[in-house]
Amino acid sequence: MEDFKTVTSSQTVLTELMIPSYSNFGGKIHGGIILGLMDKVAYACAAKHAGNYCVTVSIDTVNFLQPVEVGELVSLMASVNYVGKSSMVVGIRVQSENIKTQEIKHTNSSYFTMVAIGDEHKPATVPGLILQSHLEVQRFYQAYHRKELNRYYKQEADRIKTPMEIAESIELIKTERCIVDLPSDKL
Ligand SMILES: CC(C)(COP(=O)(O)OP(=O)(O)OC[C@H]1O[C@@H](n2cnc3c(N)ncnc32)[C@H](O)[C@@H]1OP(=O)(O)O)[C@@H](O)C(=O)NCCC(=O)NCCS
Repeated sequence: MEDFKTVTSSQTVLTELMIPSYSNFGGKIHGGIILGLMDKVAYACAAKHAGNYCVTVSIDTVNFLQPVEVGELVSLMASVNYVGKSSMVVGIRVQSENIKTQEIKHTNSSYFTMVAIGDEHKPATVPGLILQSHLEVQRFYQAYHRKELNRYYKQEADRIKTPMEIAESIELIKTERCIVDLPSDKL
């Protein structure tokens, strides 16, 4: 029988204290530190679900909503939102807490696509997902929908190749802040 697991069985939380060596020139926490922690928690969550070694194949939009300060406690909450055959979309919410005031800020959310890897570095099938709440159904549907949209955007972007299509795109970007400086035989 096909293997299925609940979302809660692989939910993962990672908490880390923001130390001074993590800061950038402006004294705030470097975005790369947060991204590294997000990759770590996504890996732990995906590997728990897959029961296998995993790799990151894609990161869907990371917006830095608010700066993180030195001395704050950052918590990253990860759960598997969607599974394909060998891929998993892990949703991550990042929040930071001021230790003295207990004020909590939502600083980032993102979706990491991870692939389970089996023998000979080939993608391995992962267990299906048991959805046990409206929120879990909503997250699964949203990830499925994003996947379809990404496929459409990629097709659209790859389509622009012929001189006619290039001319059409020049028309569409003409109000943007760029100068199209092509030799006349390329126009
Ligand atoms: C992961 C890897 C082995 C997949 O190999 P592949 O030949 O593309 O395999 P497939 O085409 O069968 O894709 C496997 C799955 O990944 C998904 N996938 C591959 N690239 C993707 C991308 N950019 N975005 C979203 N999903 C992607 C496919 O949709 C497929 O999903 P499914 O099995 O659920 O249907 C290969 O892409 C790889 O090694 N990438 C580098 C990963 C890495 O080094 N990451 C950084 C360090 S962890």
